[in-house]
Formats: sequence, structure tokens, C-alpha cells
Amino acid sequence: MPILLTLSMVQGGLTAGSTTSEASCEAIRLCYNVLVERLVSLKEKMKEQMGSVSWELLIMQANMQSVNLSANSFFVPEFTSMSYINYGAGVSEVEVNLLTGETKMLQTDIIYDCGQSLNPAVDLGQVCVHYNLLYLINEF
Ligand SMILES: *[C@@H]1O[C@H](CO)[C@@H](O)[C@H](O)[C@H]1NC(C)=O
Repeated sequence: MPILLTLSMVQGGLTAGSTTSEASCEAIRLCYNVLVERLVSLKEKMKEQMGSVSWELLIMQANMQSVNLSANSFFVPEFTSMSYINYGAGVSEVEVNLLTGETKMLQTDIIYDCGQSLNPAVDLGQVCVHYNLLYLINEF
């Protein structure tokens, strides 16, 4: 997944509701379909002549025949696609000074069910952001 800059993602909007990964993956899937459609007849022709065709050879031949190997897509998810639930749980061990009210977090354990991970770094970011928000508003 590219870094969200206007150089790498011209129409990248705000990321919210955990929709960025899904929207990016769907845009990539649409591009993939375009590229497969452009390559499939060449691959079949090469396969008839040579038996099996490696990816490298297919792309080299496509390049020599000026097959357009660039595709772009813009995908905006429907609003209803944002309504799903992620499950997670967290437990913190907190020391509270009953005289002053001062709190000190000793340890936190978090479990987050992200389903089938698209990118573990993004999942970790989601967990950390939510954890920090809870920490800031003292909701633990
Ligand atoms: C290749 O295809 C993409 C769309 O899939 C298009 O934007 C681009 O202009 C095409 N490039 C050429 C050189 O035809």
C-alpha cells in the first residue's frame, strides 16, 4: 500500500471507518482485471506455441508487442460497506493513588481480531490509535 501522499495517490481522501484498505484493494482488483484481459490472448497464443509460459516471458513479450501494461482505477465504497464490526478486547493493570487520584498504567494486553490481515502494519496502527484514544480520555 503506498504512503498516502498526493504523489502516490492523487485522489486519496481521508482515511476513516477502516475503509481505506478495502477501497485500495478493490481499485487494485479492478486494475488487475483490465491487465488480465489485455494479457490473456497473448498468453494463450504463447502457450499454444511453447507449452507453458513464465510470467517474465509473458511480460517481456507483451512489452515487445506494446501491450499497455498500465491501468488505473478509482473506487469509492458505498456508505453501507462501512457498517461492520471489528472485535477486540483489552485489559490494563492500573495503579491508582486513592489520596491524589494519580493513575499509573502498569501493563496493558490487547487482543484484536482483524480477520484475514491485509497488512499487519495497518492492523497494528489501528490498535495503537484506538488504544491511545482510550488512554487520552481515560476510558480504561
Ligand atoms: C494505458 O491504459 C490506461 C488505462 O487502463 C490509460 O490510462 C493509459 O493512457 C494507457 N496508456 C497508453 C499509452 O495507451
